[in-house]
Amino acid sequence: MARRVTLRLGFEGGLRDVVVTIPDDEPAPWQWGEKFSVVGVDTPRLDGPLKAAGRAPYTYDIQLPGMLHGAILRSPYPHARIRSVDLGVARRLDGVRAALDRSGAAVRFAGQEVAAVAAVTLEIARDALRLVKVDYAPMPFVTAMEDAMRPDAPAVFESGANVGAPHINEIGNVAAGFETAAASVDAVYTTPVQTHVSLETHGAVASWNGDELTVWCSTQGIFGVRDDLAVHFSLPPENVRVITAYLGGGFGSKFGAGHEVIIAAELARMARAPVKLMLSRAEEHVATGNRPCSQQHVRIGAARDGALTAIELEQHGSGGIGGGSGSAVPYLALYRCPNLRTRERNVYINAGPASPMRAPGWPQGCFALELAIDELARKLNLDRLEMRRRNNPSPVRALEYDIGARAFGWDQRARAPKARGPIRRGVGVASAAWHGIGASGPQAQCVAFRDGRVAVRIGTQDVGTGTRTIIAMVAAEELGVPLQSVTAEIGDTRYLFSLPSGGSMTAPSTTPAVRQAAAHLKGKLLRLAAPALGAAPEDLVISDGVVRVRAEPDRAIEFADLCRRIPGDSLAADGEHVPNYGGYSTAQAGCQFAGVEVDIETGIVRVTDFVAVHDAGVIVDPLTARSQVNGGIIMGVGFALFEDRLIDPQTGLMVNPTMDDYKLPGVLDTPEIRAYFVEVANGITNTGVLGMGEAVHVAATAAIGCAVADAIGAPVRDLPLTPDRVLAAIGGV
Ligand code: MOS
Repeated sequence: MARRVTLRLGFEGGLRDVVVTIPDDEPAPWQWGEKFSVVGVDTPRLDGPLKAAGRAPYTYDIQLPGMLHGAILRSPYPHARIRSVDLGVARRLDGVRAALDRSGAAVRFAGQEVAAVAAVTLEIARDALRLVKVDYAPMPFVTAMEDAMRPDAPAVFESGANVGAPHINEIGNVAAGFETAAASVDAVYTTPVQTHVSLETHGAVASWNGDELTVWCSTQGIFGVRDDLAVHFSLPPENVRVITAYLGGGFGSKFGAGHEVIIAAELARMARAPVKLMLSRAEEHVATGNRPCSQQHVRIGAARDGALTAIELEQHGSGGIGGGSGSAVPYLALYRCPNLRTRERNVYINAGPASPMRAPGWPQGCFALELAIDELARKLNLDRLEMRRRNNPSPVRALEYDIGARAFGWDQRARAPKARGPIRRGVGVASAAWHGIGASGPQAQCVAFRDGRVAVRIGTQDVGTGTRTIIAMVAAEELGVPLQSVTAEIGDTRYLFSLPSGGSMTAPSTTPAVRQAAAHLKGKLLRLAAPALGAAPEDLVISDGVVRVRAEPDRAIEFADLCRRIPGDSLAADGEHVPNYGGYSTAQAGCQFAGVEVDIETGIVRVTDFVAVHDAGVIVDPLTARSQVNGGIIMGVGFALFEDRLIDPQTGLMVNPTMDDYKLPGVLDTPEIRAYFVEVANGITNTGVLGMGEAVHVAATAAIGCAVADAIGAPVRDLPLTPDRVLAAIGGV
């Protein structure tokens, strides 16, 4: 059965009532202006102390009796046929317990998996790898995108061209749009390959018991890993258990059972002993995914008032032997433009395959588009924020521009003198968008115990975003109990199903299921309380850990006392994420303002401060939300100023596969960051929560780029903005 409820949807200054139909067993959706007691309060992560003390068990920390250590032999050649692999000598080394051939017919990048061994220590395993005899027939290779695009370039795949078929989006008439433009920009922007650099590398511990497999795995999706392993070993899924209690980052690189997970399980089966296989930092850089590079030829035109008349993008990108290099989506999503054409092509090179990375395609696309808009605004002599306002399709973002501009001091700072000795100051603004909506599928269980504790169990995983904390907060809010009495139990395929943590979907997907489960548990608890309080269950409420008769608040029983009446040991209820209702809007806006200082003698850029304004429906924990903003911006600093996967064209080897040589932002590179959230009631689920991880990252690099160009008074078009590039840009004026 279903019922109709009226929801007040929208945001301050733009609210309207919408009627939606929801299932009968769905709790009444949280409403605009809802009075919360737990939600909306800055709450430190529940597992923070455990992590800070080093007692949170990450995959790397798992130690099992008799556990062996696995290691992978990787190709030193970027392209080769493999004539043979001889494991004989390696197998006979004292301490080696298993060895396997993973070579297939050919390797197409330096670092590709060739063989693997398991031994009683990691040192012996690594020694054994040196005893594996591989007969390679090296083949011609290409590791630079420009080289791979030449007609005579070595073929990465014998079966096809290095440049893939174009993917085209077309709206209106671009040629006509440029004819009406008062000014236009025609420029090429490039972004390098970026690697994920999750602090915890990929890896797993695999343990067999007969035909049952348990895998502790560093993954963003425990059920996906379970299913991949079940298929690989022809097992029913229920024979495979995947556990990810704690995860040290993933950013899109940790979906499914990667080579290292399959290899660990294969070695464990062969050796009849558990095997741990965690990748080294170098392996992580080379073989576990990356954000593809891009070359974006942008043409953009606008009328005298700044209204965009045409945008054209010709894009090439390389994700090594993988695809997914497109960066056109921001061109389609951020601004209004009647005439638009984008053409994206994957270019294949002999390098490790791309994988999704925090808002795939967006930071690259935003960088080129926003820098081009700034160049155009300069030609039209328009304020850069005003130019964006003029083409902005989102009423929420219009409000966010106002909030951000005021907090940042845009009007003063955009006009302020730039020079102070050799230092030039600049400011930039860029727009964000995302659609971090969840999906149905997740189910949760809420359990009350006789001692008054409540557990929430759901097969999701906390990729470092605070999932454990916000799940417990939502359950505590619904049950009317203090947060301290709730624990979230996650990261195990023995719990009910949840989706992988990607696409900023974890919070929006899990919280409605958790809330429904908590509501169902509350219903059972109130039925238990009713006879004791001499009232009907529907006349009872729970708040602050006390069950009361609504009309007579003095007739009450402590939640903990009620739990002692639970027959048996516990009382449990399930909940699900019902299909999204279809409410106000599934889109998220956002904008970020950056301030930089550029030393024109050294070319060194310092990002001084950021103002970020975002919306994500109901913000469950403002503290973890601000952490997302911090992380998204710091990652943007890395992409803007430092990160660059470099491959030696002579050898095909990555030359900077360490955290020393692959430059990342550190504490001293981190700007002051101020975050503001605009509340939007979206009417999509019973919580109205959206995700933030990607929305907060898409604009950061672009805002920095715009600020650097502003500071030096010259265009910047190539990332990262290293001192040599900045000096060259200054010298080119
Ligand atoms: Mo994200 S790139 O969907 O983890």
